[in-house]
Order: sequence, then structure tokens, then C-alpha cells
Amino acid sequence: MKTKAVVFDAYGTLFDVNSAAEKCKDKIGAKWEGFSNFWRTTQLEYTWLRSLMKRHKDFWEITEESLDKSMKVFDINSNMKKDLLELYKVLSLYPEAKEVLENLKERSFKISILSNGTPALLNELIRSNNLNNFFDDLFSIEEVKIYKPDSKVYELPVKKYGIKPDQITFLSSNTWDVSGGGNYGYNAIWVNRNNTIFDNLDYHPNKEINNLTQLLDIIK
Ligand code: LAC
Repeated sequence: MKTKAVVFDAYGTLFDVNSAAEKCKDKIGAKWEGFSNFWRTTQLEYTWLRSLMKRHKDFWEITEESLDKSMKVFDINSNMKKDLLELYKVLSLYPEAKEVLENLKERSFKISILSNGTPALLNELIRSNNLNNFFDDLFSIEEVKIYKPDSKVYELPVKKYGIKPDQITFLSSNTWDVSGGGNYGYNAIWVNRNNTIFDNLDYHPNKEINNLTQLLDIIK
């Protein structure tokens, strides 16, 4: 099926979730990377747990609450909290992303983001990385108040564009998000940035790339 819309996950796929802690590595010291990975894992666990418990809080609240726990676990001085949160609002774009978006735009695909992030967070990431005018839509789970991988989330662009799920090429570096989108029916491609192992959750992506640039050769 020919792709009508290219839909990107945000955190970890377009924007580097480790860049906030990395920018503080002089103050945090060598444990910065372990801390950053723990923060990300805890944040995601809270999204899944809150969806299952039906106790929704938005992604910014979850980001702060998971940070509080992670700072305690890694014994990080509480005066770092404000800086880490401010940096999380302006995470760095992966270096190849802009050129890829330019190319996709020239080829007239619909381009959008589908993310756990709130509309305010997504708008700030776009603004701070100078990505205005690239995206047709920024789809936030706040529209349905449940987190990925609930199918109500993956349904958002399908409904908005009036297309079939397999006319969407979905990109995520998060294996579980590729499984979620793929099980829903997307043509889901795994951006395997760190050369890791895929999940066993029924869907296996028929395309795997190491960076977004490789998408340009395979998208039809
Ligand atoms: C997002 C998370 C899953 O942007 O990375 O939705």
C-alpha cells in the first residue's frame, strides 16, 4: 500500500531524550547516562501504569514525577531539578532529522507527529528546534487521555486523514511503540538507533533502519 502520511514518534525518534541529562553531565558526573535511562524507563512505566489504573495525568506531570523518583534513586542534588525540567522542554533534534523532513515535504507526503507529549510540549520542541512549517499535524494523546500503545491513540491520524492504517508509515525508535503501531495496522518502521534487539509482541517490522536518513530510500 502506498504511503499517504508519514507519522513520527517524538521522544527518542525525532528528539534525543538523553540530551537534557547530557547537558548537565559536568554537574551530575559519570552516572548521568544511567540516570537518564532510568528516568526515561520510569516515565514510560508511569504512562502504562496510569493508563491501566485509569488515573490519567499529562506527560509533563509524569515527566516531573518520574524525575523526582530517579533523582532520589541516583542521589542527585535536588537543586538540579529545575534545570533538568527546563532542558527537557527543549530536547535536541537528532542531527539528520531536518534534512529528512525537508525531503519528505518536497515529495508531498502528509507529515505529522503522534506523541504522548502534551500539545504545549510538542509546540515547544518544534519552536526551539526551528521546525515550524514542517508538520501538517501534531497529534497528542491528550485528545484521547490514554497513552500509547492504546489503539485510540494510533487511530487519531487515521481518522483525521480519512485513510487506512497501512497507508501510514510510522517511525519510532521505541520497540514497544513500533509493536503498538504495527499491531494496530500501520506500516511501522523501527529506527534502531542503538543496535538493540526487537520485542516479541506479535508484530515484526519488515523494515528496520539505523537513522532517519535511511527512510528516504525505502519509502514509497
Ligand atoms: C512519544 C514517546 C513514546 O513521543 O516517545 O510518544
